[in-house]
Amino acid sequence: MKKVSIIGAGNTGATAAHWLAEREIADVVLVDVVEGMPQGKSLDMLEAMPIIGKDSKIVGTNNYADTKDSDIIIITAGVARKPGMSRDDLLTTNANIVGTAATETLKYSPNAIYIVLTNPLDTMTYLTLKKTGLPRERVIGQAGILDSARMRAFVAMETGVSVENIQCYVLGGHGDEMVPLTRHSNIAGVPLKEYIPADKLEAIVNRTRKGGGEIVNLLKTGSAYYAPSLACVQMAEAILKDKKLIVPCAAHMEGEYGLSDMYFGVPVMLGAGGMEKIIEYKFDDEEKAMFEKSAASVKETHEALKKLVTL
Ligand code: NAI
Ligand code: 2OP
Repeated sequence: MKKVSIIGAGNTGATAAHWLAEREIADVVLVDVVEGMPQGKSLDMLEAMPIIGKDSKIVGTNNYADTKDSDIIIITAGVARKPGMSRDDLLTTNANIVGTAATETLKYSPNAIYIVLTNPLDTMTYLTLKKTGLPRERVIGQAGILDSARMRAFVAMETGVSVENIQCYVLGGHGDEMVPLTRHSNIAGVPLKEYIPADKLEAIVNRTRKGGGEIVNLLKTGSAYYAPSLACVQMAEAILKDKKLIVPCAAHMEGEYGLSDMYFGVPVMLGAGGMEKIIEYKFDDEEKAMFEKSAASVKETHEALKKLVTL
């Protein structure tokens, strides 16, 4: 069985472990600084395996040595948003936590592929790339699958069509300036703009942009975790099974879309090599303007990181 280690056994980390084990995608190691908690959650999940007849092993630990020889490392460690906080407010605390998680895991799994979830997402993924010194193919951030799934869910709610028929593409940074591409999104091949009245579509776009905040405001003590963790697991599965799956993820830009030295949400191909390819869409002027605005916002957070941490 393949091995996936998840750093941070909180809401997203533990739920990712749950999805991975329930689908028997890999054995899982859950790491956290809190003593007993990752061990307790893991044992509980392990005890559920006989009921569903799956043989994934789940181990909880406070020791990075237990992550040895992982195929994939998922970093979720850090603090989550509370009402009124932006993802960028998390920068200082999470930079220290993610930096340590990246360097400690690399010691034990030099061949692993990294999937980062911790916010501010694009910047934490950039930090992981710099701290590990790995090639960009092996350090990817999760945001676009979640943001696109939210939009798909809202389109399904509006139209009553099965989510399976709805394809939406949300690119850009994982912030309120993200870029929902209505022109590229469709319902069974019919462009969204032909299916949904303009005012309703605009409302869906706005709700998608604020989708994370909507859940923070409802939960009050944390942020979303069912959909975010499943998005990470979709990425891990695509890599472990060499699926060549095209999904929006945060990738290191090296000239694509006219951007460089930054992470940004773009369509990528995921396979055994990690982020094997970046797909470049052709944008119209309106899309280009949204993309540039989002890139400027992500760049700003990257610059703030560079003032805090030596990369
Ligand atoms: P959580 O608070 O439930 O879990 C975080 C866990 O990290 C806690 O158990 C904590 O003890 C642990 N932790 C803190 N410092 C650590 C360290 N040095 N080493 C190991 N573990 C450590 O938070 P949740 O909901 O799991 O969110 C985690 C992060 O993911 C947050 O930054 C959140 O904003 C982000 N997030 C990102 C999403 C995305 O789409 N990119 C979606 C959802 C959450
Ligand atoms: C989300 O979009 C908070 O980034 C997290 O739910």
